Amino acid sequence: MTVEAARIAFVGAGNHATESLYPNIAHIPEFDLVAVCDIVPERAQYAARKYGALASFTDVEAMLDKTQPQGVCVCGPAEMHYAVSLQVLRRGIPLFVEKPPAPSLAQAQELVDMARNQGTWGQVGFMKRFAPANTVAREYMNGATFGRLSSLTLMHGSGPYNDVRRMLMFNGIHMIDLGRYLGGNVRSVFAFGLTDASGTQAVAASLQFVNGAVGQLNMNSGHSWSDCFEMTYISGSGAGIMIDASRTTEVMSGASAFAQPAGQQLFGWSNRYYVSGNMAGWAAGGHYTRGYWGELNHFARAILGQVAPGPTLEDAVAAIRLIDAMAESIESGRQVAI
Ligand SMILES: NC(=O)c1ccc[n+]([C@@H]2O[C@H](COP(=O)([O-])OP(=O)(O)OC[C@H]3O[C@@H](n4cnc5c(N)ncnc54)[C@H](O)[C@@H]3O)[C@@H](O)[C@H]2O)c1
Repeated sequence: MTVEAARIAFVGAGNHATESLYPNIAHIPEFDLVAVCDIVPERAQYAARKYGALASFTDVEAMLDKTQPQGVCVCGPAEMHYAVSLQVLRRGIPLFVEKPPAPSLAQAQELVDMARNQGTWGQVGFMKRFAPANTVAREYMNGATFGRLSSLTLMHGSGPYNDVRRMLMFNGIHMIDLGRYLGGNVRSVFAFGLTDASGTQAVAASLQFVNGAVGQLNMNSGHSWSDCFEMTYISGSGAGIMIDASRTTEVMSGASAFAQPAGQQLFGWSNRYYVSGNMAGWAAGGHYTRGYWGELNHFARAILGQVAPGPTLEDAVAAIRLIDAMAESIESGRQVAI
């Protein structure tokens, strides 16, 4: 069966793109990779050859002129995200850009404005929104049993960073966006920070959400990239949900958690949902599980008008605003309103 596919070009063929994004594109029928661009010609040629694009380029404008894509993915340094995203949006072409979409809040807002003025949109690489363990948790929160959100705890440990804002912009931003996905907008923040020259950074922040719920974010760096840690705990008036590193989602509730099988009775207070380990990409590092397949599938389908675009450039602006507020709170020792 043939599936309608969007013609999409890709800018950037470095580590993240080749490890986690291109391999998933091969498993998305709606995503037709038409061209690859990288300032290093060998990288563009390699990715184009390996993942089936007809052409490779070293210049973005030349690629856009020649291939007239329906959408463009951008994955490189933050400064390049900003510059290339402007080139793409200026032409009215839908954009997928890795996080952070720009180095500063003002530049990220410029991208929002450009998209709006040109009648187009941008999606940001907040893949945790597409990790099945997180989507299942949110689905449960929307059901009758969960009740009202009261508190949200987000913890993440990563490899070393040399300053706090960089850790938050390049890594913490994922948990911050996950916090907004699960808890909505934040009204106010108070943060403590620790920084040392050896690469250890730590932030502990208290959050107050607009809906009245409270939250904690604990982000730290310093151990190693091979033992990253992630945990999310969500508490509602009717149930608690624990998400272990986007791998399992456990619901703690007196009521049954997931489907009640016909003719059987479930006992106990805890129900655990395991993310399937046999989907495309798992063997290469759990890409489906971590949301990379989902975000790229969503981008292609949004171009085709099958789903609403998102998470958007506006979501990235909200996340960067929160990062700046945390930095301000650490600096001033005061609570900061968003
Ligand atoms: N979502 C995630 O889980 C995740 C994980 C890792 C990295 N990332 C993001 O991915 C991005 C890339 O990280 P990386 O480690 O792959 O970097 P990288 O340096 O390995 O790759 C960047 C690539 O962009 C190319 N490039 C730079 N300027 C260009 C231009 N003007 N036109 C065309 N190509 C250009 C470079 O030649 C390089 O090949 C970063 O922004 C990072 O934040 C996201």
